[in-house]
Amino acid sequence: MATTDIKVGGDAQDNPLVEGLERLPVHPTTLVIFGATGDLARRKLLPAIYNLAHEGALPERFNLIGSSRSEMSHEEFAQHAAEAIRQFSRREPSEQVLDVLLSNMRYVSGSFDDDSVYTQLDGLLKEFDDAAGQPLNRVFYLSTAPEFFPVIIEELGKSGLNSHEGSEVRAVIEKPFGTTLQEAKDLNKRVLSVFAEKQLFRIDHYLGKETVQNVMAFRFANGLFEPVWNRNYIDRVEITAAEDLTIGTRAGYYDQAGALRDLVQNHMLQLLCNVAMEPPVHFEADEIRDEKVKVLRSVIKPTPETVDDIAVRAQYGPGTIGGETVRGYLQEDGVPADSNTETYAAIRLEIDNWRWAGVPFYLRTGKSLARKVTEIAITLKPVPHLAFQQEGSVGVRPNQLILTMQPNEGVSLSLGAKIPGTRMRIRPVNMEFLYGTSFMSQSPEAYERLILDAMRGDATLFTRNDEVEAQWEICDPIVQKWEATPGPLPQYEAGTQGPAEADRLLEDGARWRAI
Ligand code: BG6
Repeated sequence: MATTDIKVGGDAQDNPLVEGLERLPVHPTTLVIFGATGDLARRKLLPAIYNLAHEGALPERFNLIGSSRSEMSHEEFAQHAAEAIRQFSRREPSEQVLDVLLSNMRYVSGSFDDDSVYTQLDGLLKEFDDAAGQPLNRVFYLSTAPEFFPVIIEELGKSGLNSHEGSEVRAVIEKPFGTTLQEAKDLNKRVLSVFAEKQLFRIDHYLGKETVQNVMAFRFANGLFEPVWNRNYIDRVEITAAEDLTIGTRAGYYDQAGALRDLVQNHMLQLLCNVAMEPPVHFEADEIRDEKVKVLRSVIKPTPETVDDIAVRAQYGPGTIGGETVRGYLQEDGVPADSNTETYAAIRLEIDNWRWAGVPFYLRTGKSLARKVTEIAITLKPVPHLAFQQEGSVGVRPNQLILTMQPNEGVSLSLGAKIPGTRMRIRPVNMEFLYGTSFMSQSPEAYERLILDAMRGDATLFTRNDEVEAQWEICDPIVQKWEATPGPLPQYEAGTQGPAEADRLLEDGARWRAI
């Protein structure tokens, strides 16, 4: 088999972003994507791989095998990949880089429970090894519907593809990792009977976002904030992941999942961990994940009795988003007219440990809201005494620190400042850091970082088995209670702030931040 070395891109002259980019060595690798013609592969994985190639960040020898049920030749798959890259890559593809990447692509079609798929894969993997004259590392990326995860894992074990003499074999598993606590436990058990934990990379793409990683940098690289980062100074933490999109064409998946499983169980609890964890001694995968697990285990678990007090769900009704009229959730194609699936979820959690006891953590997410915003808002306690009361200090508000993940990535701190004039009048102003202006460069997509890390065997930004189960332990009682409680659900108008019901989670007088 003729393969081409992938010394592509990496030229600082035509690609200024390469400058200063840290290049960590990656062993020559063959990546196998199951579900390679699916939506995620098309929109995210293939474009991410192209961008890594463009930056010269892929290993010198890199091959890709796509696999899915659709009948296709190698050439047709390469064509499909090229189209996906042209449509979704964050940068205009260079034909030279693309050609090299496509020349090292192969395709295997078939059903994931069919042994012959794995025999063919084995053959292609060996051909790539022979062409390279050495055993290449292998990464199996499971980007299929979740019911195929155990099937593929078992087939990989059965065909002996879970290990390879002289090189590393790793498996990347997409979300959702189970739809209940029990399912997650069963899946962990099945996966761990074939692969060792150090071979496994459970994806949560939020961890690959630069701005999410920056939460740790912000906390642990600055002496200013850590002393106040506790119950003595922080009044409440509000984490929002609002979207202005409807469910689009994803009814099949979404109606089974709902907002809590789709975003809270994974991405939002990870954000909470980043805010609340203790500083690790070293920035190493297991140390960081140990600290996160400690936080998750300290969260007071909801019970059937407390769910109604601490959680609110709702569905979007018809409305207008960005000037466009949209349908309500129950009118979406593929959604049963009596569906009880929530498109909005808000919960109040408490972390029962030394640092955080008594501080409410509010998490909310929803589809079809007024705008897309992902942020962590940390509100400090009010000052103990207002010296300028007679002077009209009405504008004095507790300091608020906002870490914005998207859009307008950055950090903003609200401060009380004197309004110019003879009187001592105060009003809040913002001190801002914006990623875009400080770094003047485009951040890589989360999947670029994560695919590279999986190839390098660095699991820091992936969820460990105990972590995923600890996340489920928090969400499972809510899921169970909601499933057992018939609807109809409260509705909120699409394009708005979400349901008024969410206000009841807050303390008296408090308000959610505007979306
Ligand atoms: C995915 C969810 O995990 O995250 C989607 O399945 C959601 O429903 C998406 O839209 C949000 O990701 P991002 O990166 O756009 O904030």
